[in-house]
Amino acid sequence: MDEQVQKLLDELKKKDKSTYEHSIRVADLIQKYSMAANLGIELTQGLIFCAVLHDIGKLILPNRILKKAGPLTDSEWEAVREHPRLGSKLIRQVFGCDRLWESCIVMTHHERMDGHGYPSGLHGEEIPLEARIIAVADAVDVMLHGREYQKPMSSDECKREVLRCSGTQFDPGAVAVFTHEII
Ligand SMILES: [Fe+2]
Ligand SMILES: [Fe+2]
Repeated sequence: MDEQVQKLLDELKKKDKSTYEHSIRVADLIQKYSMAANLGIELTQGLIFCAVLHDIGKLILPNRILKKAGPLTDSEWEAVREHPRLGSKLIRQVFGCDRLWESCIVMTHHERMDGHGYPSGLHGEEIPLEARIIAVADAVDVMLHGREYQKPMSSDECKREVLRCSGTQFDPGAVAVFTHEII
């Protein structure tokens, strides 16, 4: 892996191990997706770069929010919802013009097809395809691994949930590949 990518991942691992492990698993799902959809080497490499760094903006969030045990206040949620923008900016700072498109993918990984995502409320195909694919991988990993207060779903439950959100939260094409080939 690129030395600068590895350095960012090392920092993330030190600060927030669970986000680091989640990022590695999302990259693994993306690798599977790329093979299933026959994406080709260039697109696959770009997607994996985005997958490992999609939550890198969390490096900039304070630990008192990132590691808070109880529910977050409104203003803390607002800060968390800044992580796509922070991550995108960090990628531009570290990699410059070489990774402008990837910084755009990271910026848009929490957008939703129905326009109810963040940070910009983009709709449908206004969201880059790569970001729509990462959004499904991101959610699938959270469903299958659970969170502190949420136990993991079975593959069947996860599949049902992803299909339920197809077209509103998720891109139907990406959902079809995940539900037929991966989950
Ligand atoms: Fe995220
Ligand atoms: Fe994530």
